[in-house]
Amino acid sequence: MKNHPTTDQEQMKRGEFLRSLGMSSAALMAFYCMGTSLTSCSKSSDPTPTTPTTGTTTGTGLTGNADASKGAINFTLDLTDANYSKLKTVGAFVKVGSVLVANAKGSKYVTIQRICTHQQLDLVSYRLASDDFYCDGHGSVFATNGSVVVAPGGPSQAAMTLYKSALSTDGNTLTVTA
Ligand code: FES
Repeated sequence: MKNHPTTDQEQMKRGEFLRSLGMSSAALMAFYCMGTSLTSCSKSSDPTPTTPTTGTTTGTGLTGNADASKGAINFTLDLTDANYSKLKTVGAFVKVGSVLVANAKGSKYVTIQRICTHQQLDLVSYRLASDDFYCDGHGSVFATNGSVVVAPGGPSQAAMTLYKSALSTDGNTLTVTA
């Protein structure tokens, strides 16, 4: 978040001046808000961001390249890391880089491209009940082998690229390769 150009020192001087006029703290706060941006006044009441269960995860737990635009997909996920431990649960999925990794039905890890082949929307999710991938954009459905099941784009709609997913014997590291 950007610092407001008004420094704390300047605010302090203004506060001392206003206090010398006998103003209450609430009135002082109102003056601060008038003199600063709305964001700095609302900062304390901003909701704490929640960690998305399905959004792109960044930070610890990923080693290698998960972005197809930067070369071949080849990375590992540490499933003991808080960013990826949800992947130990059947039905859960995460999006990293340009792929979506799901713990599919039967504890089978499936990794496919995250962007839908219909109109390139990033709205694909894994559905445990039907063991498939669904795009919320226009209803495309893809099987866990990437093939098109429901194609709003017509018969020419391309399949999703599938990547290889391999779980280590201790169940703590998932390796994804092209
Ligand atoms: S972009 Fe996915 S169904 Fe249209």
